[in-house]
Amino acid sequence: MNILVVGSGGREHAIVASAVNSPKVDRIYCAPGNAGIGRIASCVPIPVMEFEQLAEFAKEHVDFTIIGPDDPLAGGIVDVFEAHGLRVFGPRKNAAILEGSKAFAKDLMKKYQIPTAAYETFDDPKAALSYLETAKMPVVLKADGLALGKGVLICDTLAQAQDGVKTIMEDKKFGSAGSRMVVEEFMTGREVSVLSFVDGKTIRIMSSAQDHKRAEDGDQGLNTGGMGTFSPSPFYTEEIDAYCREHIYQATVDAMAAEGRPFTGIIFFGLMLTEDGPKVLEYNARFGDPEAQVVLPRMKNDMIEVMEACVDGRLDTIGLQFEDNAAVCVVLASNGYPSSYGKGYPITGFEAFDGKEDYACFHAGTALKEGKIVTNGGRVLGVTAKGKNLKEARKKAYEATEWVKFDNKYMRHDIGKAIDDAQL
Ligand code: AMP
Ligand code: GLY
Repeated sequence: MNILVVGSGGREHAIVASAVNSPKVDRIYCAPGNAGIGRIASCVPIPVMEFEQLAEFAKEHVDFTIIGPDDPLAGGIVDVFEAHGLRVFGPRKNAAILEGSKAFAKDLMKKYQIPTAAYETFDDPKAALSYLETAKMPVVLKADGLALGKGVLICDTLAQAQDGVKTIMEDKKFGSAGSRMVVEEFMTGREVSVLSFVDGKTIRIMSSAQDHKRAEDGDQGLNTGGMGTFSPSPFYTEEIDAYCREHIYQATVDAMAAEGRPFTGIIFFGLMLTEDGPKVLEYNARFGDPEAQVVLPRMKNDMIEVMEACVDGRLDTIGLQFEDNAAVCVVLASNGYPSSYGKGYPITGFEAFDGKEDYACFHAGTALKEGKIVTNGGRVLGVTAKGKNLKEARKKAYEATEWVKFDNKYMRHDIGKAIDDAQL
């Protein structure tokens, strides 16, 4: 069959790379894709928010579509495809709200007793300010809607929190996402990302991962979309897994169904492992980026078969299997990301990855210019390596970061540092 992947980042490159391995797949299209995706799929220049154009293309050329990013999902792309009678993998608009509104997600967790940080929701900045007068610091402020992984402010003092209310609700720094705001209790602990496939009723958990969200070494600097990942997380023990299965995963799927919003697609659980047990930091309604770049390369199943089972409501017949190894992904960014950075720098050295099974160079922000691959975004590449354990994978990934060269190349040097704290 022919498939279409919607999106253009490292996540979509990882999805396309997995689809290439599926014996079911003849031809892969990606809209709009990027320079790296273009080496293994046919890129189609349709933007991700052009739902009708994408559906028309899909009608003519493909049997199955996979939606990568959050924006089209929250905007209802799946509903449009279904209205055209198309087979599509991802949540409908009424379920993608799990990521699209933090207030919705928090209210759902409260109603169904899914462990998460205590919170209050505000539509009015004055009410938020008067609540903050007596709130315990630090406190976390979150713009309600999608804000590209930003929109979350951790405030140590009342003055910072007051400033934060202004930034989110009055100056609308994160756009209309800030018309409503969640104020949350600050939690401490290790973060773990757990991705899952869901068919509306059944959930299947993938191997765990950990992201590094801050721009600079030592978890300093601004929040980014993610600077690197490793999988599995050594802190995600069997005991924690059992707890989450009992109190979080199936409970979330059941809650969505009970609300008349059955969820089909990927649920990404952002968890904090606190002293009081695991709690949900956030839900995403899609693969994480760069989590997908360490989790998918370790999955033994035919990804397309699993996704079709989700769409057909028979995920209960599938068992997920992962390789007994580890993977590390280091993001190569353009210096200045996530604030301001240059674009258009030529990139060389990709051929070093050719034919090396344990390595992948996923393109996040690249383009073709006059036949040459150039940088075209803040996050440029995701260099992934697999190894027999996390330490080996990390060593190999950092070696491979030297294979590619471009001006203004920037990376964190401590991706996977937490591995050293674990008893391996
Ligand atoms: P989110 O987009 O909700 O995942 O938030 C982005 C990042 O902010 C998370 O990955 C955490 O590092 C941090 N964060 C969010 N909520 C909290 C919280 N309640 N307590 C502590 N840190 C948080
Ligand atoms: N890496 C975090 C995310 O995709 O939101």
